[in-house]
Order: sequence, then C-alpha cells, then structure tokens
Amino acid sequence: MRNTIVILQICILAILGLSSCQPRFRIGVSQCLDDAWRQKMNHEMQRELLLHPELSMYTRIAYGSNELQCAQIDSFIAERVDLLIVSPNETEAVKPAVSRAYRAGIPVIVADRRVTGNEWTAFIGGDNYAVGELMAQWLRGLQSAKGNTLQVLEVTGTTGSAPASLRHAGMMDNLADSTSEIVINSITGNWYQENAYTIVSEFLKYNKRIDAIVAHNDLMAIGASDAVRDSKGYGEGSVHIMGVDCIRLGLLAIADGKIDCSATYSSRGDMLIETAANILAHKTFVRDTVLQTMMIDAASARPMLMEYNARLHDLETLQLVQVQSDQRWRKMIFDRAVLISIVVFFFALLIMAFGYIFFRQKKLQSEIKREILPQLEEMQEAVNLNHRDVAFAERMKQIVNDHLTDPNFSVEDLGSMLQLSRTQIFRRVKAVTGKGPLEYIRECRLKRAEQLLQTTDMTIQQVANELCFSSPGYFTKCYKDYFGTLPSKR
Ligand code: FRU
Repeated sequence: MRNTIVILQICILAILGLSSCQPRFRIGVSQCLDDAWRQKMNHEMQRELLLHPELSMYTRIAYGSNELQCAQIDSFIAERVDLLIVSPNETEAVKPAVSRAYRAGIPVIVADRRVTGNEWTAFIGGDNYAVGELMAQWLRGLQSAKGNTLQVLEVTGTTGSAPASLRHAGMMDNLADSTSEIVINSITGNWYQENAYTIVSEFLKYNKRIDAIVAHNDLMAIGASDAVRDSKGYGEGSVHIMGVDCIRLGLLAIADGKIDCSATYSSRGDMLIETAANILAHKTFVRDTVLQTMMIDAASARPMLMEYNARLHDLETLQLVQVQSDQRWRKMIFDRAVLISIVVFFFALLIMAFGYIFFRQKKLQSEIKREILPQLEEMQEAVNLNHRDVAFAERMKQIVNDHLTDPNFSVEDLGSMLQLSRTQIFRRVKAVTGKGPLEYIRECRLKRAEQLLQTTDMTIQQVANELCFSSPGYFTKCYKDYFGTLPSKR
C-alpha cells in the first residue's frame, strides 16, 4: 500500500512538473570558440532566457575547429532543434553546414560572424569593417603625433574568419593613401592571448622596431602587451597597443595602462534570444542588425567598467531570484501533488468500499435465494394448501424424491402412480405447486443437487450425472436459472 502511494505521488509529480514548466522550443547554439567575449555573449543569452520560459538552450563549442563545428551543426539538425544560433568559425568552411540547417527548415540566426549568401534567417553582429576604420584612424593619430614613419604590427584573428578579414580590409582601405608613413606588418594570433604573446615576442626579437600594435581582440592585445614588457630593448608602455571587444579584461588593461584603447564590439546575446523568440512565435523581427562600434580609451574605460560591474551584479541578482522562484515553484508542485494523491487515495478507498459492499450484497442475495427462499416457499406452500392438497403434495413429493436418480422417470409415470390422467396431473400439480410437473421435478432435482454438493465430496459432473441432467453444462444452466449463481462448493 505504501509503495502504491509513493508511486502514485511520483507519477503525479512528474505529470505536474512536466506539464507546468516544460519549455516548448529548443534552441541549438553553435559557438566557434569559448573565450571571454563569447562567455559574455552566453551570459547575456542566459539572462534573456529567464524572461522566456518557453525556450530552452543547448550550447556546443567547436574550439576553433571547422570540422567539429560542422558536425555539431549537423547533430543539431538531426535532433530537429527548433532554431539554430550560429557563430561560424571560418566563413567558407562552415557555410555549407549553416545552409544545410536552413534548408532543413530550421530558422538560423547568424551571430557576429556573417556568412555570405542568403541561406540564413537573421543576422546580428558588429560592424567589423568599421572596426578596421577605427584602427586606421587611431594609427593616423599616432603617426601625426610622431611626425615620421609609424611601424605597425597587426595581430589578426583566424585567417578566413569574417571578423579577421573585414577588420583587416577596413584598416587597409583607410590607410591606402598613407602606406609610406604607416607601415603594416601582419601576423596571425588566432584570437588567443598565449599565441599573441609568443608570436609578438618572436617578432620583436628578429624585426625592426615597432611603434604600435593593433590586435584583433583584447586578449591578444594583452598578450602583445606582456610580450612587449618582456622583450629586450622595449619595456612596459614603450609600444602603443589597441585591442577590440572592450571585454572586462580589456577595459581593466586600459585602466591599468597596459593597452591604450579598444574598439567596442557588442555581443548582444539578449538580442539574439529576443529575435529567436520572435521568430518562433511568428512575430516580426529585424532580419539584418549591424551593431555600431566606437573607440574606448583610458578616459572612457572607467565609467564603462562601472557599467559592466553593475550588469554583472544584475545578472547575479537575477539568477538568485530565479533560484528562489524555482524553489518556490517546486514546493508548490510538491504540495499540489500531495493534495492530489490524498484525494486520489480517498477516492480509491471509496471505490474499494463500494465494491466490497456490492459483492457482499450479491453473496447474501444468493445465499438467501439458495437457503432461505426454498424454506419460505415450502412454508408458503404448506400454508396455502388445504388438507387434501397437503396429502396430495406430500405423496407427490415422496414419489418424485424417490425417483430423482431414475433417468426414465416421466410425468406419465408420476401420473399413473397417483392414478391421474395426463391432463389431470398437469392441473393438480399446477394447483398445488404453481408450476408445471416437469418444472417441479427439475426443481426437486436441483434442491437435491445443492444438498449433494454441500454435504458430499461429489463433483459438479457427478452430481449432474446422478440427478439425470443430460450434461454438466445443462445442469449448470438450470442451477443458475434457479439459484441465480453458478453451482459451487462452499
Ligand atoms: C571571440 C572573438 C572576439 C572577436 C570575435 C569576432 O571568439 O574572437 O574576440 O571580437 O570573436 O567574431
């Protein structure tokens, strides 16, 4: 019983839990990398998800591998996610997988790294070409302050990725008229701080003197700054350094004087989720959103850092509220389950009680029919009959009872033994018993059968045989018709 109640509670809990807070749409997120900028983007998405209980999010990270990212996108397609958010590692290499998802009918939001062509549903990302323009502007400023040729080292992101090529193009196009005053040397740091440290250290060891470094993200700018600090003949702050992204670490580096400035590069995870929610709800959405960029230097880095910290605090508070509301929600579901199981338990109890009473009544009824009614009938008969009839009934009963086991005993035999013609016997038997003679004889056999069943070891078949029923089946039918139950031994 205890087990039944526990199972009942678990089922109810599961049903309530599943039906009440089950998200309706699954969003697959395919991230090319897992650096601080992308973690910020993931946080923003998670925070926005708190406002959309209908959405759930599954993130897969490709760690800079095109093959892995394509395979991860293909598995999202196989799992039939309702929407895909993808930030492709290298444009051309990952584009076919993005197209496959789009063609499979999955809405695709391309985040931050644009893919060429038209096989995507929406794009949200920064203006990388404009970031390149800001780099050029900054270098021009440095060159004019210096007065002569400015030697620049560009540390790029992964070759073949959209932001690396667009940032480079934006910078080069805007420096096309001053190639003799601003000389650009490019090396690739693959977006990683450690890579940037190593390649910049190598570069500074074997090449001519450098005046400025533009790194395609803050992490590489910090790596480059450390390399300058550790390089012979340079020292901290001896080279101007610019980063991109304005992540918290970048802003701290600016505030500490490790790097000069950084171009903002918004991640807007909140906007990605909001757009996903709109697409899934068939609401209107902006297809192509390009986020603006601006330069942050030592003066603007501090207020921006404060803004950051406040947002982080907001996120933590939100998460706390979410945890508390989850706990309350779970408690509520539990209470509901307890209540429902109590109701179900008592309901089951009620049904069982009804069932018990019903079957007991049936049994009593059949017992009354089997044992008490015949006696009553006999008494009734006795009361109804006058003396002459009583004598006749007694004799008839005697004759019939003496021939219960005689298979050849017939109504005619009974008539001749009572010295009555065929018509007379019918009339007299009907008058004293209310039944036809055949029916009377059968009832006497059934009463004897019941007696034999209850007082001897004889089986139903033997009893049926003994009392001249043509078959046990026929006996059972007659018994049921008369007593209302099937023959059985008590
Ligand atoms: C992170 C990152 C950022 C960069 C962005 C461009 O993976 O490398 O640092 O600005 O991607 O997509």
